[in-house]
Amino acid sequence: MNLVLGVSGSIAAYRAADLARDLMRAGYTVRVCLTDAAQKFVTPVLFETLTGQPCLIDTFDEPETGRMAHIDWARQADVLLIAPASANTINKIANGYADDMLSTIALAFTGPIIFAPAMNPAMYAHETTRESIQKLKGRATTILEPQEGDVVAGEHGPGKLASNMEIVNSVLAIEKRSQILRGKRVLITSGPTQEPIDSIRFLTNRSSGKMGAALARAALLMGAEVTVVSGPVKEPLPIQAQTIHIITAEQMLDQARQNAAKADIIIGAAAVADYRPSAPLKGKIRRSEESLHLDLVANPDVIAELAKVAKKEARVIGFAAEPDSGLETAVQKIHRKGLFAIAVNDISRKEIGFDADQNELMLIKADGSKETSGMQSKLGCALWLLERILA
Ligand SMILES: Cc1cc2nc3c(=O)[nH]c(=O)nc-3n(C[C@H](O)[C@H](O)[C@H](O)COP(=O)(O)O)c2cc1C
Repeated sequence: MNLVLGVSGSIAAYRAADLARDLMRAGYTVRVCLTDAAQKFVTPVLFETLTGQPCLIDTFDEPETGRMAHIDWARQADVLLIAPASANTINKIANGYADDMLSTIALAFTGPIIFAPAMNPAMYAHETTRESIQKLKGRATTILEPQEGDVVAGEHGPGKLASNMEIVNSVLAIEKRSQILRGKRVLITSGPTQEPIDSIRFLTNRSSGKMGAALARAALLMGAEVTVVSGPVKEPLPIQAQTIHIITAEQMLDQARQNAAKADIIIGAAAVADYRPSAPLKGKIRRSEESLHLDLVANPDVIAELAKVAKKEARVIGFAAEPDSGLETAVQKIHRKGLFAIAVNDISRKEIGFDADQNELMLIKADGSKETSGMQSKLGCALWLLERILA
């Protein structure tokens, strides 16, 4: 297994030498990338000698002539670990800067990233650092909280680099997670649908596609091959997922059905419109003083239809947006639609669900068992959900 160890300009950089050895003992091929500031504390020679691998610093370093090392290293790595992670490197990577070799590798890398921050407690508590850490937690990253203790300059507080054992264990756990769905296919429907009223107007809902995107990221992190059938959304989907863009519920069903029979897990996270105008007008409905009545017809029940064509052993999961009293309805839906489980979003709460970055899911399985994820990022909820489905 290949690991890139990024070392940034922290006083704790000296600990990265032992960490590299511990990771090698755990079975990893370790390649080290230093920031300029890290070089003030440790040298490339130290890591090259310890690991037997070249050490990168400058964005234009090319151990193999003619090959862009940042792309090669990003492609070949199974995990990117940044330890110690300085405040500067955390803030840069959270915001997509790629102005040195380490941040460029991080931007080119699509797998799991682990940050082990080490810094002065005031830098760690700074609003900008907190915001960056929140951003990173919402993506495919793990933050190993620094330990509380005496830090240099006579201060006390959270800022000390996590122990080597904790860092190595976290790498192993994340790597194990990346194998869980290897060789499995996951199909996800995501976002809203738009049902045309005329050529320029449509019926839709407030779904942002954030939960669907988080599910796609989580399934990729677990090693799955992912297909997303997505309604019109602004939320970017991971590039490693195969994405099929649709507009209406009927198109969603058509596209998802073509991929359902080979899927091992099917998750219906899309907010499919239940009804559509029966006869959308070509052109534009003109204003008049008269009332306007729209005739609506029922749309297909996408997840129920997918359950019908799914493999027998596939796990089909529905999402239900219910007001807090809707649990009974959710249980009925599982049986009516032939699902393995249903994830309930409580839409009576503003801080979670539609368009929010956080969510809290109640997972109800066909056997009647119920479990809640607790409030966490949508990626956290997605990982939790997939783990529960497989449990
Ligand atoms: C002696 C010394 C120790 C430092 N220790 C830390 C530290 O532990 N954590 C941190 O975030 N910054 C620390 N800094 C500041 C960083 O080195 C500085 O912000 C640098 O620009 C980080 O660059 P990099 O993120 O590219 O490595 C320290 C600076 C000095 C001079």
